[in-house]
Amino acid sequence: MIKNTFTLKSLKSKCLTGKLSVPADKSISIRALLISSICFGNTQISNLLESEDVKNTLNCLKKLGVKILKKGSQFEVFGQGGFFEDPQKELFLGNSGTGLRLLIGLLSTRNINVTFKGDKSLSSRPMMRIVEPLKKMNALIEHNNGCLPIKIENNNDSSLPIKYSLEIGSAQVKSAILLASLGLNGTTIIEEKFPSRDHTEILLKYLGANIKKEKNIITLKSPNFLKPKDIFVPGDFSSAAFLIVAALITKGSKIILENVGLNFFRTGLLEVLKKMNGKIDILNKKIINGEIVGDIIAESSNLISTEVDSNFAPRLIDEFPILFVAASYASGKSSFKGLEELKFKESDRLKTMANALTDAGVELGVKKNSLEVTGNKTQRGGNYVITKSDHRIAMSMLTFGLAAEKSITIDDSSMIKTSFPKFKETMNTLNASISNVSK
Ligand code: S3P
Repeated sequence: MIKNTFTLKSLKSKCLTGKLSVPADKSISIRALLISSICFGNTQISNLLESEDVKNTLNCLKKLGVKILKKGSQFEVFGQGGFFEDPQKELFLGNSGTGLRLLIGLLSTRNINVTFKGDKSLSSRPMMRIVEPLKKMNALIEHNNGCLPIKIENNNDSSLPIKYSLEIGSAQVKSAILLASLGLNGTTIIEEKFPSRDHTEILLKYLGANIKKEKNIITLKSPNFLKPKDIFVPGDFSSAAFLIVAALITKGSKIILENVGLNFFRTGLLEVLKKMNGKIDILNKKIINGEIVGDIIAESSNLISTEVDSNFAPRLIDEFPILFVAASYASGKSSFKGLEELKFKESDRLKTMANALTDAGVELGVKKNSLEVTGNKTQRGGNYVITKSDHRIAMSMLTFGLAAEKSITIDDSSMIKTSFPKFKETMNTLNASISNVSK
């Protein structure tokens, strides 16, 4: 039987206009669930992202004996102070690297036995980056050549805090160590060579953890007894990024995105786009549970080329695919360095984007860890994109199609639900032309 699956196609669009809220932040949603599960008491979370990655984390917590109820638009997590039951079956994290790596960290020092699995993409992603520091803490972990499946065994309270120098800019590794350390006795010190998003540190501090950061050094004194407080999850800047670039590259556009998270380590793209002459403004800045939140206004712009250096990479790591799209429509040659970590995402994002953009007629220079994009106000498009089941490639190339001469069709749109389930509808509310195609 031939399965009739739907995928998506984007067409050159007229001006994008409107005001809306983007979906809630995926990184903060996953942290809110995990961290509230170890609070002493119940936490109310509002505006939790209900995407597949977050649902997988939530279901895993339920299998570990944590009660979570949905009440209207809020979620109530019944925190158990760090106690979990051995799950009956393995835990499945689907496509979510964040859910998986943070949950492994959290559970590795909690005296339980668990096996973790994921989908094809997650099963091929590197896990030694968390296994190595967690083993130093005495966690008992088995892995499959550095990949899934991973098994944690009860080490009968023999875990120890560590001092760790983190050589890659990875918030997932940093968070795995911090979550593993919370209930131990002693001081954990992490030195970050390339500082990355600090949502874990912010949420832990908000809930009363003894954590501080000086320059690149994070110090966590444990044990910590976290007290519940209401958590509001701001809009996801990484989802907003597609809409921002869509507005910049389509003529006559002006959009307003409300309540978007503006964490310093997430908003490198704003700085780069502004340098590229992007007309972007921020209004109504406020702080909600420790996170900066504000409204973003983005308007159609005459973009110029830019240069991004390796040190800057962790601050826009998830936005590189959509930044390559912006650079494709900018005048001049842009250069991006420090792209090594792109190879370990949901797909090899350097290769997947380079293939998609080349097929769309963009002139590129691809090296091992860097990319040059020669931009042009007019781009051909007209290609069928192999997304490698990567949500950010799918959304970036659909955005490319909104300004291209010929339409862009993607091979698979199903993965978009891992982070931005209503991407097509949201874009179309702003006047974009994205439609279903049956294959
Ligand atoms: C994330 C950290 C980043 C990012 C990912 C989400 C997080 O990964 O790419 O989408 O929520 O901690 P790395 O820590 O592997 O860089």
